[in-house]
Amino acid sequence: MRIVLVGGGGREHALARAMARHGHAVHFTHDNPGFVGLGERTVADPMAAARHLSAELVVVGPEAPLAEGLVDHLEAEGFLAFGPSAAAARLESSKIFTKSLATRHGLPTAEARVVRRGDRLTLDRPWVVKLDGLAAGKGVWVPDSVAATEAALDEAFAARPDADVLLEERLEGPELSVLGIADGTRVVPLLPARDHKRRFDGDLGPNTGGMGAIAPVSVPEATLATCHDVLRRAVLGMKADGVPFRGVLYGGFMLTDSGPKLLEFNVRFGDPECQPLMTLLDEDPVPWFLGAARGELPGERLRFSSRHACCVVVSGADYPARGAHATITQLPRDSDDLVVYHAGTSSHDGALWATGGRVLGVTGLGPSAEAARSRAYQGVAEVRFAGAAWRGDIGL
Ligand code: AMP
Ligand code: GLY
Repeated sequence: MRIVLVGGGGREHALARAMARHGHAVHFTHDNPGFVGLGERTVADPMAAARHLSAELVVVGPEAPLAEGLVDHLEAEGFLAFGPSAAAARLESSKIFTKSLATRHGLPTAEARVVRRGDRLTLDRPWVVKLDGLAAGKGVWVPDSVAATEAALDEAFAARPDADVLLEERLEGPELSVLGIADGTRVVPLLPARDHKRRFDGDLGPNTGGMGAIAPVSVPEATLATCHDVLRRAVLGMKADGVPFRGVLYGGFMLTDSGPKLLEFNVRFGDPECQPLMTLLDEDPVPWFLGAARGELPGERLRFSSRHACCVVVSGADYPARGAHATITQLPRDSDDLVVYHAGTSSHDGALWATGGRVLGVTGLGPSAEAARSRAYQGVAEVRFAGAAWRGDIGL
């Protein structure tokens, strides 16, 4: 099938590999040295690419083009696209929209209130502060005191003077990413995954796009059932509200003492969660993407390998403040139990360069989580570029 893939990061490398393995002709709107051998580069503009190639399917990786209505434009011209409409993408682009959906449909989530600039507040305890809008991972503050909450509110209103802000009850517990593919009515879940968002070992340091991810995560059956139910009820709620959701619905949950609570939805594959998930997928993803786009999924469940996968992100030393800039002099070779995904690399002057924040996603596979982890770290030890940095505790 002739496919246009929009996006050029590690997530898209994993999507490209999963599709190309099943013989699809993948055309890329972005450059990524990892794409070499998986398909062809096309023009950068996704609409132009779809027209030029008479694309049979357009797969949209990142959230920004979804929020901007790329899928609406493609569908208006008769193209099939995997991803939600701009209206449905509000599940990610507006935390207040999501909170209202969750409240109306009784989804378990943190208690919250909306505050406007100038509102007089008397805070009794610290609250989590969230900007309403896409913020590339920079719109959430988790303060430890009332004074820090007030400071975070000031920062939030300074960053986005006209936007409302969501104050949310602070929850405790491990996090879990549960993603599903939705066709507007039904949702088929992927394996539960876990991302490690903080920059340094032990969950210290600033928030990042994600320093590594593992799948599957072993959680009690009942916990997983609750998370699946949240995805299912969200999809039914969106349908009832006249905004059917088609694409990847990603629930970010916190596993609290009183059960899983929804922290956020994203409307696309997580990066780096996509890397272990696509590496473990044991079938062609395209019929699922196509089914979601058409409004009818082809089955009840996806087939995954019984192995485990662990993706360790190798970044530049100064990530997330600054990107890397160094030549990569050595990489491990891909094999049956190791895949190196490119997230922030480029080829020029006959060399491979580390040029992004997150540079590589070294993904190990194995019969257990521990085996996958140790294979990933063996791979990481073979990566050579000046300033290469990673967390040592992905998957623990
Ligand atoms: P988000 O960008 O919404 O994924 O939030 C970034 C991170 O902030 C999450 O991964 C959590 O670690 C943390 N966070 C978000 N909401 C809460 C909450 N209500 N309580 C505690 N931590 C939270
Ligand atoms: N891994 C977190 C995200 O994609 O938002």
